[in-house]
Amino acid sequence: MERPREWLSRLAKYGQEHLLQHWDALTAAERESLLADIESIDLKEVALLYEALGRRGAPELPSDLGPPPAIRLHRESAAERKRAVEAGRRALAEGKVGMILVAGGQGTRLGFPHPKGLFPIGPLSRRTLFQVLVDRLLAVRRRHGVSIPLWILTSPATDAATRDYFRKHNYLGLPEEDVFFFCQGTMPAVDRATGKILLAERHRVALSPNGHGGMLAALHESGGLERAGERGIEYFFYGQVDNPLLPVCDERMIGYHLEYSSELTSLAVAKRGPEERVGHFVERAGSVQIIEYSDFPEELASQIDGDGRLVYWAGSIAVHVMNRAFLQDAADEAESLPYHAAWKKTPFVDERGERVEPTEPNSVKFERFIFDLLPRAHRPLVVEVARDEAFAPVKNADGAASDTPSSARAAMVNLHRRWLQQAGAHVADVPVEIHPLWADGPEEVAARIERGMVVERPTYFHTHCEE
Ligand code: UTP
Repeated sequence: MERPREWLSRLAKYGQEHLLQHWDALTAAERESLLADIESIDLKEVALLYEALGRRGAPELPSDLGPPPAIRLHRESAAERKRAVEAGRRALAEGKVGMILVAGGQGTRLGFPHPKGLFPIGPLSRRTLFQVLVDRLLAVRRRHGVSIPLWILTSPATDAATRDYFRKHNYLGLPEEDVFFFCQGTMPAVDRATGKILLAERHRVALSPNGHGGMLAALHESGGLERAGERGIEYFFYGQVDNPLLPVCDERMIGYHLEYSSELTSLAVAKRGPEERVGHFVERAGSVQIIEYSDFPEELASQIDGDGRLVYWAGSIAVHVMNRAFLQDAADEAESLPYHAAWKKTPFVDERGERVEPTEPNSVKFERFIFDLLPRAHRPLVVEVARDEAFAPVKNADGAASDTPSSARAAMVNLHRRWLQQAGAHVADVPVEIHPLWADGPEEVAARIERGMVVERPTYFHTHCEE
């Protein structure tokens, strides 16, 4: 079969006819798969994005920036905290809260050959990221005697394996009717110098998930927002699958969100120093936005206030509470989330059909970010949380300088050791791990153990420890 003419002319209009360059060598099934990949691409959109973003440097920053409206730990009174926690508990007990977990990323930096959620992170239990997070959700559900439905964002890269995993593991203890998977879209990687779409194989386009911002359109299009409405969900707790310390459905955060009548609340940690590479929350003309560290000039990042603290202290940990109505409004204009361009290394096959492993970023990838919803919020709020209680990202393989499985496991062990110590235990320098259904915080640990208890050996506290 000749190269299909109709496709060739469609591709030629955007300078992408090379996508069919290996056509003659493909089997019928491979040709079909290639055409399906091409069909999924909006060629015009890719051309416009490359033109607008592909070669651009850092965006210019407006000059009227300030720190965001925030609840800070060192300024929070016990009474305020109590009020917020009570408000959060009420919303949870009334069944108004659902959870969104984004798990569509390819996890390329971790180099794990399965969806990241399947990574065995438990320091002693080796429970997977999905298990650790669902265990916490089960604990919250039990504490409030309520069902909290879970929406899991997948992508073509993770969808089948994720669904399969949940099915085989009995939905990790959740009722099946409380778990919803929804799959996000993809975007092609293009050559950085020419804008030509890259082929991952002779019959496959180099497609990757379109960023966690793809969550919005996917939730809407899958009927998830509608279903949430039918189930009486007013608020979503949103988190990422690669943070085993994610404070699942945190009462305090939900409570402040309600007390402040915010539509979109974000958790932040105080930056370790001016140079820490996290997204910065800033305020501008009444709206909050996140500026990536790479776009944030050093002179702003190192500004100090009258108390000697960083003015731009708030680092994003990608945890939010979002009103369903706010998401619905935004989803009605899903195209309103802009694309960002990033230069990345993307392996590809060249015109000879040979695979090339680039050593430098050779491609542009286009992604939407969920935090671009922030400027739409009329009353955005940032809530500070202690880093060691809420944030231990798993981004890189062991051996890297930070955000590795080892650093996340150490953070889990340290937190659980502190809970035990607060409850009066003496814990030797050994790893400990606590299953959330055994205890999901220092108070629950205190109810479980005798003061003065000695922990000398590596110990995994879980429900079977009760006997
Ligand atoms: P990251 O962009 O930090 O990491 O995603 P990643 O995609 O998992 O891994 P790399 O960059 O390829 O190494 C942060 C969170 O957002 C989700 C990820 O699953 C992770 O929970 N995500 C990211 C999506 O759900 N979809 C995307 O398109 C991108």
